[in-house]
Amino acid sequence: MKILVIGGGGREHALVWKLRQSPRVEKLWCAPGNGGIAQDAECLPVDTKDVGAMIALAERLKPDLTVVGPEQPLVLGVADEFSRRGLAIVGPSKQAAEIEGSKVFAKGFLERHNIPTAALYGVYDSPGDAYGALCAVDWPVVVKADGLCAGKGVLVTASPDEATAFIERLMEKREFGEGGERVLMEEALEGEELSFIVLTDGQEILPLAPTRDHKRVFDGNLGPNTGGMGAYSSDELLSPELERRILESIVRPAIRGLAAEGRPYRGFLYFGLMLTAGGPKMLEFNCRMGDPEAQPMVARMDFDLAEALAATAGGSLGRINSRWKQGASVCVVMASGGYPGDFQTGKRIEGLAEASAVPWVMVFHAGTRREGANYYTSGGRVLGVTAAAPDLEAAIRTCYDAVGRIRFEGAQFRSDIAAAGLTRTRAAGD
Ligand SMILES: Nc1ncnc2c1ncn2[C@@H]1O[C@H](COP(=O)(O)OP(=O)(O)O)[C@@H](O)[C@H]1O
Ligand SMILES: [Mg+2]
Repeated sequence: MKILVIGGGGREHALVWKLRQSPRVEKLWCAPGNGGIAQDAECLPVDTKDVGAMIALAERLKPDLTVVGPEQPLVLGVADEFSRRGLAIVGPSKQAAEIEGSKVFAKGFLERHNIPTAALYGVYDSPGDAYGALCAVDWPVVVKADGLCAGKGVLVTASPDEATAFIERLMEKREFGEGGERVLMEEALEGEELSFIVLTDGQEILPLAPTRDHKRVFDGNLGPNTGGMGAYSSDELLSPELERRILESIVRPAIRGLAAEGRPYRGFLYFGLMLTAGGPKMLEFNCRMGDPEAQPMVARMDFDLAEALAATAGGSLGRINSRWKQGASVCVVMASGGYPGDFQTGKRIEGLAEASAVPWVMVFHAGTRREGANYYTSGGRVLGVTAAAPDLEAAIRTCYDAVGRIRFEGAQFRSDIAAAGLTRTRAAGD
């Protein structure tokens, strides 16, 4: 198989790293890729906001399969255009991707199919209506922009002033463009979050290992939200009973519902869950694999990802079985100083070889550039240092051992990734 991976972050490096191990894969491209991905795949430039450019690239390379990492090309309809031209692709159609692209659509969909989620206060098209609605909500309240806002379109707050200021930024100042044209407000749920990601061909479902992301920039879940500062995977995150409940009450109804509404879903589908005292409830859908969830996920993956993805695109996922290495895996993101605010790039990264030499460690690159034998930072999230081990404690220790060997000016990372997983053996809600 010749495979093209679209995207250029840590998630794509993780996917490429795993695909490269498959004996079925004879050629791997990644577009645009990054400095680290270039070790494992041929990187080619492409604008992932330009569907025409991605088609032109695929028509030139003629891959047997294309795998889309980020949500934006999917929401723009890249999968439809590939399918129209007979190019096999892993990723949902534009209509199916609306499950992530519009939080208003997703909310209505959850309600239509009786899938547990936070109670909705309302959907607002004008700032005036949104400000007015604040008089009638319970606090804390959750304010969500309808469209894609690069992870900055949600606020959970107990303060009416903060809610008002956020609505102003979204709807009046249009800080996130069209994404903030409409907002919804919903009940704030309490519990622990879980990323439950599956592969589906529209009918069959292959659940992937459970993971947990760490969104806030500082230790103790303090500071602003980021794209993700780390994630871990362990079977302890999810009991078999809870997994059954998630599949029966959430995953199957969602995949059936999408098909029934004429939006059959094919690809990675990410269920962002809150494990509440009243059972698992949906926070949001993502129409793709998670980043940084992909990194600890592939570290435990013990089956042929290329075969599973080909079966996803080809509608034969039923014949694939997943297998996972026992134990746990941890990914710690090393970011540029100042991220998620302003940061500098172009800092030389040292110690990569020493870190990669630690047994069971993989250093996935998110924002790096290669120049000769050296690597330089080129983004907010720079590296996803990942380790797998027989248990969570060893995975954490190994991962931070590797992190400690890497240096670049201004490097920041959380020192408590997965630490909460050690103090409880089972997730809430089971
Ligand atoms: N109803 C809710 N109750 C409590 N927290 C929420 C709720 N909805 C979202 N959140 C919090 O906000 C974060 C971001 O919201 P999410 O819906 O995942 O949007 P996005 O990932 O697009 O920014 C979630 O990971 C969660 O921590
Ligand atoms: Mg989210």
